[in-house]
Amino acid sequence: MKTKKSFYTTTPIYYANGSPHIGHAFTTLLADTLGRFHRLFDHPVRFTTGTDEHGQKVQEVSAENGITPREQADRISAIFKQAWQELGISHDDFIRTTEERHKKVVQKLVSRLMQKGDIYKDIYRGWYLVEDEDFYPDTRVKEISDDPENDPRLQRVEEENYFFRLSQYTEPLKQYYQDHPGFVLPRNRRNEMLSMLDQGLDDISVSRASVEWGIPIPGDSEQTIYVWVEALMNYLTSAGIYQDEELYETFWPAACQIVGKDILKFHAIIWPALLLALELPLPQCILAHGWILSEGEKMSKSKGNTQDPLTISKTYGNDAFRFTLFRELSLGQDGNYDSDILIKRYNSELANDLGNLVQRTLGFARKRINAKIQRPAHYPSWFSAEVGELSPDFEPAWKIATSVIPEALTDFKAKLERFEVNQALDSLWLAVRSLNQAVDKAEPWKLAKENPQAFEGFTYFIADALSRIANAASPFLPDTCAKILGILGQPPEFSWKNVQTCCLGPGIEIHEFSALFPKIKPPQADQGASSKKSSKSKEKTISIDDFSKIRFEIVTILESKPHPDAEKLLVLILSTSQGKKQVVAGIANFYDPTDLPGKTIVMVRNLEPTEIRGVRSEGMVLAASNRKELSLITTDRPVQEGSKVS
Ligand code: ME8
Ligand code: MG
Repeated sequence: MKTKKSFYTTTPIYYANGSPHIGHAFTTLLADTLGRFHRLFDHPVRFTTGTDEHGQKVQEVSAENGITPREQADRISAIFKQAWQELGISHDDFIRTTEERHKKVVQKLVSRLMQKGDIYKDIYRGWYLVEDEDFYPDTRVKEISDDPENDPRLQRVEEENYFFRLSQYTEPLKQYYQDHPGFVLPRNRRNEMLSMLDQGLDDISVSRASVEWGIPIPGDSEQTIYVWVEALMNYLTSAGIYQDEELYETFWPAACQIVGKDILKFHAIIWPALLLALELPLPQCILAHGWILSEGEKMSKSKGNTQDPLTISKTYGNDAFRFTLFRELSLGQDGNYDSDILIKRYNSELANDLGNLVQRTLGFARKRINAKIQRPAHYPSWFSAEVGELSPDFEPAWKIATSVIPEALTDFKAKLERFEVNQALDSLWLAVRSLNQAVDKAEPWKLAKENPQAFEGFTYFIADALSRIANAASPFLPDTCAKILGILGQPPEFSWKNVQTCCLGPGIEIHEFSALFPKIKPPQADQGASSKKSSKSKEKTISIDDFSKIRFEIVTILESKPHPDAEKLLVLILSTSQGKKQVVAGIANFYDPTDLPGKTIVMVRNLEPTEIRGVRSEGMVLAASNRKELSLITTDRPVQEGSKVS
């Protein structure tokens, strides 16, 4: 019987301007890579992604945009679908939580919970954080705000709701965690969840009386189901529950659900509690990744440090994007990523290690021996235990490669099975590097002249090793690995069988190819000590129309205080032509907050408001900076507050 495997992630709506950011791409690419890896073994794989489309946030934004929530959801969902296609995501199902199939499933599941008595009616009195669609009762609101009354992100809610008896599942969940040490990974995240369980769980509201854009509570059209409860159920919908028994039997429980750390509580506490209540099996693993940071900080639009995955992949290629992402970031931690980091990895590992390896072996041989090579008469099955000897002419090289590659690729597999993505890539690269060392040792350019027969044998071995590496590496470098197989006349069908056994015939032809990874010129490091921004400064012009959309204005600083949660940031209260505005600025290393009140500076007034590390920011102030110094932009002569800057 084949092993059951399934992989799930959902990548939900990003409502504001509707494009996926690099964090969304990370979650989805991780699932994609794991899905591709398991397909190598011919396991049945179902990889689901989609859009989470209900709730107050979508309702509000659609109203702001003057369209219906459905139009808003259609718009965003289409953008995500298109983006995943461009990034080469290989999902089997794209679920939209507004689909009929999902509504039916959710209503059945919720009815079942109601019948069991796990859902009851009560009054919810507390706060609601719309941007995360999360309830914060009075007892917990201080976790996110010192002054909830005046925090524009929070809404006071007092309404009759349906509640889920989450508290009753505290002990069963603890027990489940104890019995299943791999349920939440990595370990640090598991520990966070365990300490949440140790504090005890309260019952949670699972409906909204004031939100219309949602799935109605069965038997009560006045209430919609709380978006998080309903969205989590998408995993069951996509697995075919109540719709397709065979599908459901094959794919539920999910082998792995991939999420970012910010939504782990929903996936590792609420979701399993709902499943326990429903008496359905729990997913085998919830895998949580950390945050992708931009120059050490969380990305946000007002700071101008968000990264668009589509631009990155259009510039450097899908493979370079995903490979360097997983090579650079380790799942348990937050980590930096930007185009400088990508270019460094690209040039050293993709261009030098892999690209050049293919060039100086297959590329060289193609020129030398008219592209046709024969397998040597006695060709050992070197991947298995009995390594044997191929030719005394390149025995040291052969020894290096054959003693490292089989073990490295076996480790690669074992690590990926444990979701140790970063470590798996270390093993993979060990194999690539050892093949390079073997080439250095064998000096095929000399062999070609001195011993053509040995040269042909060695080239056959390299082709063989490269095809095995390409099959193994394909989840991370799908396009490149297809190209490598193409050079060797193989179809782009990857399999772990071809890692263990040579898939090349006795005679191969090396097909013409262009460089796999042409070197990228690193960004100019001349202007003032290799500015980190330099890679982004590939100058793009904007039209005067675009420029005129930006409202610059002279404002006065009224107050200034440190950001509660970030050392580099200050929170400024500004007097503007439109009243007081609050802006978060990354100037704490350069200004003492007490020196700022009274200063006249320049502000961008019409930036979309956002939140920077939990503090609302309604614009941006202008400053001149390099790495060592920073100066707020002010005027040459005194001008009246509210003056336009143009
Ligand atoms: O949470 N770095 O949607 P979402 C890494 N609708 N990952 C990041 C990130 C960053 N800077 N920013 C976001 C939701 N993510 C819900 C999910 S599931 C039933 C409903 C990740 O659009 C984030 O952790 O806010 C999550 O996994 C995904 O992107 C979508 O986040
Ligand atoms: Mg979020």
